[in-house]
Amino acid sequence: MTEFLYLVSAILFILSLRGLSSASTSRRGNMLGVIGMTIAVITTIFLPGIMEYKFTILGISIGGAVGYLVAKRINMTALPQLVAAFHSFVGLTAVLVALSAFFNPASFGIPHNIPVGSLIEMSIGASVGAITFTGSLIAFAKLQGILKGNPLSFSNQNKINLLIGISIVFFIFLFSFAESSILLVLIILLSFAIGVLLIIPIGGADMPVIVSMLNSYSGWAAAGIGLTIQNNLLIITGALVGTSGAILSHIMCKGMNRSLVNVILGGLGSSGISSTSDEKTNHGNVKLCSPEDAAFIIRNVESIIIVPGYGMAVSQAQHAIKELYDLLKAENILVRFAIHPVAGRMPGHMNVLLAEANIDYEDVLEIDDINHDFGSTDVAIVIGANDITNSSAKNDPSSPIYGMPVLDVEKARTILFVKRSMGSGYAGIDNPLFYQNNTMMILGDAKKVIEGILKIIKEA
Ligand code: TAP
Repeated sequence: MTEFLYLVSAILFILSLRGLSSASTSRRGNMLGVIGMTIAVITTIFLPGIMEYKFTILGISIGGAVGYLVAKRINMTALPQLVAAFHSFVGLTAVLVALSAFFNPASFGIPHNIPVGSLIEMSIGASVGAITFTGSLIAFAKLQGILKGNPLSFSNQNKINLLIGISIVFFIFLFSFAESSILLVLIILLSFAIGVLLIIPIGGADMPVIVSMLNSYSGWAAAGIGLTIQNNLLIITGALVGTSGAILSHIMCKGMNRSLVNVILGGLGSSGISSTSDEKTNHGNVKLCSPEDAAFIIRNVESIIIVPGYGMAVSQAQHAIKELYDLLKAENILVRFAIHPVAGRMPGHMNVLLAEANIDYEDVLEIDDINHDFGSTDVAIVIGANDITNSSAKNDPSSPIYGMPVLDVEKARTILFVKRSMGSGYAGIDNPLFYQNNTMMILGDAKKVIEGILKIIKEA
């Protein structure tokens, strides 16, 4: 019965991932995941070997209450660091389970003389878990601003990392024969150290990829522990998390033009992009535009593409944008949204906000599906976005973001940029589009500007 229920959970998790891959099915996907996890937890609680419920109830109550409060209070813009913090728990759990299984194998159904295979699984699971734990803590500290976002490096860093890596592999090999607690603790301590050393040299721009990669590591740590304690569901779930995290990292790397191998190896290919630098290279003429002018322009066109970015999330402008979208559509104007894979600060950031505002999914298009339409569009309204529109990524080999795919906003007949200042975005570089002849800047908070435009259209 246990194996059957675990299989049902595993199938629900797979269907959940499938659902989450598209905005229109994501709610259902999320719900299937919740049902799968509920079945998995209840089945595990009622395993025949479990004699004591005191700590289980206490753990679920405390964990559940903390999780509920955090989820209620967290800002959407702070989700990447929350995810990093959660991954650290998965990593630490893997270490603790490996230690418990080593010191008390019988309670996990492992023979007293632990077989070599179990020792290898245990030590690899503990090592990956320890790397995930400290790596995620560093990622959390960088994203939360506790540590500086720029890469921290010192001489011979890569050689030291290599030496520690080789030592871990060597100690795992020794441990599989010697079964010594000192070796296991040494493996864990060295893995804690390499987790820190791998993440500190990574700059802010690569951090989302790192969070996703750590997500993948936490999956592999869970799968390793699943093998140790012979829990099929943990193996399947760990593998699902491991592979989906790796695929997401790959997609993000493509979106930011970073190499996945370099990111995994930790900073070896650090992009040099830092959110602190603010290079201004192009001080051409800037045309300013008022909400009144913008309202006049957008009411008299046939097609509009809205490009949302991080600033839309900061100002929570999505509901005002939805109202504008409804008004313009009612006037038979073609209005669509162009989504860049790394717009905002987390994967799917814009999709989530636009879905929250009930914008039709079919009008929300990914970069590859809409980029060729900018050339035939009357107006592109860029709302709180910057780097994802920066044309220097296409034509300036000296730009730190050169090679990153960007939206072809500059091809639209008129470009309206809604942002608070002439300041740069995440990559800290100037945007040549601000100075283009067909660009007009509407300076102000995104929500206030859009509400201003709405008021004028409604009063007209
Ligand atoms: P950014 O390039 O960061 O630009 C956002 C712009 O929004 C800023 O230039 C800012 O200009 C403006 N802004 C901020 N608050 C605003 C407000 N209240 N109202 C109006 N505008 C506001 O964002 P993007 O274009 O979305 O590109 C994303 C960047 O983040 C990329 O460089 C990407 O690599 C990086 N990144 C992405 C992720 C993921 S996975 N999505 C994670 C981490 C980093 P003002 O200050 O002048 O208003």
